[in-house]
Amino acid sequence: MSSETPPVTAADPRSIWLADYQPYSHVLDKAELCFRLAPKGTRVSARLHLRPSAAARGRHVLRLDGEALRLVSLRLDGQLIDLTPDPTGLTLPADLLPDAPFVLETEVLIDPVSNTALEGLYMSNGMYCSQCEAQGFRKITFWPDRPDVMTRYTVRIESDLPVLLSNGNPTASGPGWAEWHDPWPKPSYLFALVAGDLVACRDSFTTMSGRKVDLAIWVRAGDESRCAWAMDSLIRSMKWDEEVYGREYDLDVFNIVAVDDFNMGAMENKGLNIFNSKFVLADAESATDDDFARIEAIIAHEYFHNWTGNRITCRDWFQLCLKEGLTVFRDQQFSGDMRSHAVKRIEDVALLRARQFREDQGPLAHPVRPESFVEINNFYTATVYEKGAELIAMLKTLVGDAAYAKALDLYFSRHDGEAATIEDWLKVFEDVTGRDLSQFKRWYSEAGTPRLEVSEAWEVGEAGEAGVYTLSFTQHTPPTPGQKQKNPRVIPIAVGLLGPNGDEIRPTEVLEMTEVQQSFRFEGLTARPVPSILRGFSAPVLLARDSSAAERAFLLAHDTDLFNRYEAGRSLAREMLVAQLTGGADLRATWAAALAALIRDESLDPAFRALTLRLPSEDDLAQALSERGHLPDPEAIRSARRAAQDLLAGGLSADLPGLIAGLASDRPFLPDAEGAGRRSLSAGLLALQTRLDGGAAARQAFDAADNMTSAIGALTALLDIGAGGAELAAFAARWQQDRNVMDKWFMLQAALAAPDQAVELVAELAAHPGFDLKNPNRFRAVFGGLSANHAGFHRADGAGYRLLADWLIRLDALNPQSAARVSAAFETWPRYDPARRALITAELDRILATPGLSRDLGEMAGRMRA
Ligand code: ARG
Ligand code: ZN
Repeated sequence: MSSETPPVTAADPRSIWLADYQPYSHVLDKAELCFRLAPKGTRVSARLHLRPSAAARGRHVLRLDGEALRLVSLRLDGQLIDLTPDPTGLTLPADLLPDAPFVLETEVLIDPVSNTALEGLYMSNGMYCSQCEAQGFRKITFWPDRPDVMTRYTVRIESDLPVLLSNGNPTASGPGWAEWHDPWPKPSYLFALVAGDLVACRDSFTTMSGRKVDLAIWVRAGDESRCAWAMDSLIRSMKWDEEVYGREYDLDVFNIVAVDDFNMGAMENKGLNIFNSKFVLADAESATDDDFARIEAIIAHEYFHNWTGNRITCRDWFQLCLKEGLTVFRDQQFSGDMRSHAVKRIEDVALLRARQFREDQGPLAHPVRPESFVEINNFYTATVYEKGAELIAMLKTLVGDAAYAKALDLYFSRHDGEAATIEDWLKVFEDVTGRDLSQFKRWYSEAGTPRLEVSEAWEVGEAGEAGVYTLSFTQHTPPTPGQKQKNPRVIPIAVGLLGPNGDEIRPTEVLEMTEVQQSFRFEGLTARPVPSILRGFSAPVLLARDSSAAERAFLLAHDTDLFNRYEAGRSLAREMLVAQLTGGADLRATWAAALAALIRDESLDPAFRALTLRLPSEDDLAQALSERGHLPDPEAIRSARRAAQDLLAGGLSADLPGLIAGLASDRPFLPDAEGAGRRSLSAGLLALQTRLDGGAAARQAFDAADNMTSAIGALTALLDIGAGGAELAAFAARWQQDRNVMDKWFMLQAALAAPDQAVELVAELAAHPGFDLKNPNRFRAVFGGLSANHAGFHRADGAGYRLLADWLIRLDALNPQSAARVSAAFETWPRYDPARRALITAELDRILATPGLSRDLGEMAGRMRA
């Protein structure tokens, strides 16, 4: 890290541009690596078998990336060479290089213990582990550290630790060493190494062609009993990818390792996935239903990368969505198949709106395929991942399921073993369908959430004749940083029509909008229909439609599309709250009555009722207000939301105890969709009950809980009314040795503290002996908790902003990547009043003025400030 970082502006001179892409000068035919592990001085020897690429025959320099490496020796075809690296790598001048194949040998020293950035090779709790995506391999050895340089690796590890793992298949081992060979060419970002005192949970999987694969999940002794769910999820994922995508696994072993210190969720290294331990370890006592669902999804996600990411990788980091959008889409399909598609869709859209729409509306907005970056780690975003997945879903809707399946088969056969681009991806769809996808491509290149306005017309037929119903749409995408002008996109709008009695009179039909303004006619109708628009959330757009509370209540009661039924409830709640906050008409009675009817409707899936019962979050409401041109007042939002909860609870007071009791079960805990749905509705109702009884029922539920889901549900309800002190203490006493569980304890307190106490409480939590600045999970629990506490974080005097900035600056010196991620808490500043805006931007400026600021946090703060 340099001590003097220039200020970051919109056109940062350090930017790397997609338009500047150049193929690499050389081909890497194979590589041999040897690691002699030592905590402070690991020796890495590398033999790179290189030759000039056809395009670069003749005189060309060889550039290798390398950071924080101590070069011990460098040999070209056995001859020692004396060259001094620069801060980012090593250049071999053209006159040194043969115009034929040659072997380059390097030996470097690295220091895993001092690596607090958790990128490259580092130590976590006594074990060695690596994280190389995106550009971490250059912190391990000198290398062409770019995804389009792929090669076969042979790896030797020397260490006294009992378990020594790398990619591919194990080939030989002895006391103090092990060798691995990966037969599949891969880019350096998929390299991994793990060494430690670990134990394995083992199973096996026989692939569709009858090959047996040994599966192992490696954890620390004591955690073996918490691997069963991850293993089960892995086996289901392997089966699913064979059945649905025809994709078979391709090595003799598949290893997963759980590590406690990890910047992200998990990593798809070839044959050796490395996971943040919180996304592996689970049992009923220590993990919630949400944890189980997330583990299932992330295990699947990383496994699915074996084809979408590893066998076919990305040409350059601008193509990140090629692997991430597609793999998220695949893991969403998988979870839907394992659970309920409607419930999964509702959850995914809620997350998309909360995170991606928020990103798209602020200073950090960027296209799904960005055109430039300073630090690529800053682009592992909701836009690249979740909006990237929405684009795949839209493409599938537009071409149909059969063509989608054909296109995927063609993609796998055409590009296997390659580093591909979005152009390659779209081309397989064009070739299969004959469609021109140039307009669709705008979804990848233009940032921002299109706003879709709807108007309707009804022409009554002449006596005895049918009427005509017309839906007219207008699309408009507001400007985003660096992109003032937006072009119309192709938008698949799934629409169904309901008759006045609630029956569906037109089943779902996908309208394909391509113009700025377009109308669609529905003929042959006997009465004016009620439209159900954007069913299943068929496109990631903001639907702006003035409709009455009565119509929303009607759709909430009758829509046959479960997503839109949820959507009717959500928009009714949102409009009611926005009206409360802006002096609009009072919609509370309509809302409360519609919601109470839904909650009592036992024919509906409890998981669905639980999601519909959930009010828009305070941040969602701030977003909704600012979309309508109002300044959000965090305190007022909180009060209005809580008043609505009180109203609903009051209306249901007679039913709540019976409803809650009816959801109880004396079967032992199972992390299945049915049980999770019941517990989720039960927790939602308990939260309402707690607003009426001062916490009596929740205290009882907490004491009686035999699983983490119920315990957290009860604790959340108590903390939300400012109670729960005794329960917090009991929780800590029971779980203080368990890092993952204690993260929940830190997080809940920070997120649920009363607004006038949150900042002080978070400062205390950060001073707690259990707080560890070096552990990303703990930092995110505490400071992610603070930023999730909308009214607390946005306290009018700016104390929340100041506290977060203080700690971001502190973290940045150790772990720039994590600091940069959490800094996005500030991205919503343009929404707020001038006083808050001034306070936040002052903190961003203070961050930018910090000596030695990282490229990561510097780019984020700079973009938020631009
Ligand atoms: N490829 C990983 C995943 O999607 C994410 C790892 C990204 N890590 C990073 N440091 N940027 O599962
Ligand atoms: Zn991924």
